[in-house]
Amino acid sequence: MDDYNNDNFYKEEYDSADYETTDYSMNKCDCRTDSPLCRKCVCQYNRLEEARFWSRIMQEHALFIKLGLPADQPMLREEAQNFIDLFENLRRRLDKVNRLEGDLLEDLIKAVKLIIEFKAKLLRLLIQCKEAPGSNYPLLLDHTRREAKRFLGLLLKPEPEDSLDLLLEQEEFWLRKEHIEFVIHLLDPSERELLEQAEGFRKIFSRLLETGRDLESMNGVRPKNFNTVIRFTQDVIKNTMLLRDFKAAAFELAKLCEVLSIISTPLLLDHIRREADKFLSELNMLLPEVTKCQSTLKQDK
Ligand SMILES: [Fe+2]
Ligand SMILES: [Fe+2]
Repeated sequence: MDDYNNDNFYKEEYDSADYETTDYSMNKCDCRTDSPLCRKCVCQYNRLEEARFWSRIMQEHALFIKLGLPADQPMLREEAQNFIDLFENLRRRLDKVNRLEGDLLEDLIKAVKLIIEFKAKLLRLLIQCKEAPGSNYPLLLDHTRREAKRFLGLLLKPEPEDSLDLLLEQEEFWLRKEHIEFVIHLLDPSERELLEQAEGFRKIFSRLLETGRDLESMNGVRPKNFNTVIRFTQDVIKNTMLLRDFKAAAFELAKLCEVLSIISTPLLLDHIRREADKFLSELNMLLPEVTKCQSTLKQDK
């Protein structure tokens, strides 16, 4: 019996959703203002917490893909189910350890590489019009493939990076406004009020992404301090909190069956809300470091 075909499974899964803004991201940076190495601020990723967060995300991606595949593609649906089972098993193993190493790390890397290839294969089929898309948008497949590649990057290369580079790189990654675009395309056309709110977010995040890319490019000239990035990041945090609340509210509506849409499971809305919280926790960790090391501003500004 396939648990994921059971409505109760979804309910349990999203009822147990963690609503706190958990700091999933990294350990505190070790950075001293007076150090000549401040620019090379040491930021250690907490790989175990990252792995727990992203493994759940990978399992859910496989579920969303499976639910989006047409019924006449049993082989692909089975492949998606295998990834659901694989990551469920890895998550159980991750819950039992306090370090990410050895066989578990290797198995995780293997699994992430496989799911990246699976998503790429499906995307290729759709781009080449070899399979009917079902309700899996090509951009959704590419989006989830990018998230998997990010996870793989964290597993393979956990070295410290410059905190300003890291902040701008994370903003560029997370500010892509695809979540809100998926919501817009999945809501029923009659949901005019929600669609208008979502369209407002799409415009705001479009502008923020463009600015983030400009700032990242300008950072290539290696300025000693870059106060504008601090102001920009504060703006990003403010807007991301609003978007996170919008996603959380949409999830509540979907759970209560109070919204018309073709969203396959309310879990999708909780999934993108968790990703917004992940972004916020990364911003809240990095902003004080960048303020201290790469700006002329006081940290409490
Ligand atoms: Fe995701
Ligand atoms: Fe996402």
